Amino acid sequence: MLNNNPAPHIHPIHELLANRWSPVGFQNKKVEMEKINSLLEAARWAPSSYNEQPWQYIIGFHGDDTFHKLSDCLTPGNSWAKSAPVLMLSVIKTFFGYNNKLNRHHLHDTGAASAYMALEATNQNIAIHQMEGFSIEKATQYFNIPENYVTGSMIAIGYPVEDKNNLPEDLKKRDQSPRTRKPFEEMIWKV
Ligand SMILES: Cc1cc2nc3c(=O)[nH]c(=O)nc-3n(C[C@H](O)[C@H](O)[C@H](O)COP(=O)(O)O)c2cc1C
Repeated sequence: MLNNNPAPHIHPIHELLANRWSPVGFQNKKVEMEKINSLLEAARWAPSSYNEQPWQYIIGFHGDDTFHKLSDCLTPGNSWAKSAPVLMLSVIKTFFGYNNKLNRHHLHDTGAASAYMALEATNQNIAIHQMEGFSIEKATQYFNIPENYVTGSMIAIGYPVEDKNNLPEDLKKRDQSPRTRKPFEEMIWKV
């Protein structure tokens, strides 16, 4: 089973939501291109303000130059992601195409696209792990990110390790730790 540590929930939710998670241990196994395309297709169908779809993704496959550059941007705390077979980085247009004015939902909408990607990954029996821990400066230089575009999150993609006993102790601990969230009631703004 892909996720033997699903999200405990007090109200019913779709199994894709409960089984989505962010592993740190990835198998040394290529992800089929069809699956990558399905992830991108899922992101494509996310809603966005004025249907601007401000997101694009830089895609690196383990061993290629793009992967090398992306992995070089990772902070030491995220070096576990260097063993993922695929790394992506979202690049976000901050302005609307139709009037060149600021799209204040550029990050919000790209987050939604990447969340769609995460759910499709669960559906494809793979997983994604988003990361803020990378050098924006390096990524901007490596990939010539122009003014008025920003980077979003780095995303590790792959087949999660099934037998966690095969992982180094620190990664094993992270992938086996209980899924936690704030209490349900805390999500409701009191008026
Ligand atoms: C925008 C964003 C940035 C994140 N940055 C990191 C990161 O740099 N390193 C990391 O290990 N996890 C990172 N995470 C993963 C979160 O820590 C993780 O989603 C959270 O602990 C909940 O776990 P779950 O996704 O398995 O439910 C990030 C997640 C998001 C959405």
